[in-house]
Amino acid sequence: MPGCDSVWGGLVVANTTDIAPGSARKFQLQCGGKTIDGFVVNFKGKFYAYINQCCHIPIPLDWIDNEFFTKDKRHLICMTHGATYEPNTGLCIDGPCPGEHLEVIPVAVKQGQVIVYCPPEWD
Ligand code: FES
Repeated sequence: MPGCDSVWGGLVVANTTDIAPGSARKFQLQCGGKTIDGFVVNFKGKFYAYINQCCHIPIPLDWIDNEFFTKDKRHLICMTHGATYEPNTGLCIDGPCPGEHLEVIPVAVKQGQVIVYCPPEWD
């Protein structure tokens, strides 16, 4: 039941099989009375989630929905000025904001579902 609250208190974004390695899925999460725009990526079979906001300028990374990876699928990239991030840490390694980090959203896989949770500072 993608996009639904789970019995574990988080938001079910998708089934694991819905997000292939090298792809991503956007979601909206209600935290502390605010809506967070986030995205989850499958990087080499593991899932990571971040707030969809570039470290350079606070705008979404993607122009085309759910397109976050570079062509070679090794990094995440902001389509505006090319900030390049490690998919598994959110660290910016190239472009206008090296050394900065995307804001992490806790993510877990339970019974074949990808579930995200409010970051502690947003709850
Ligand atoms: S806004 Fe993302 S690189 Fe400039």
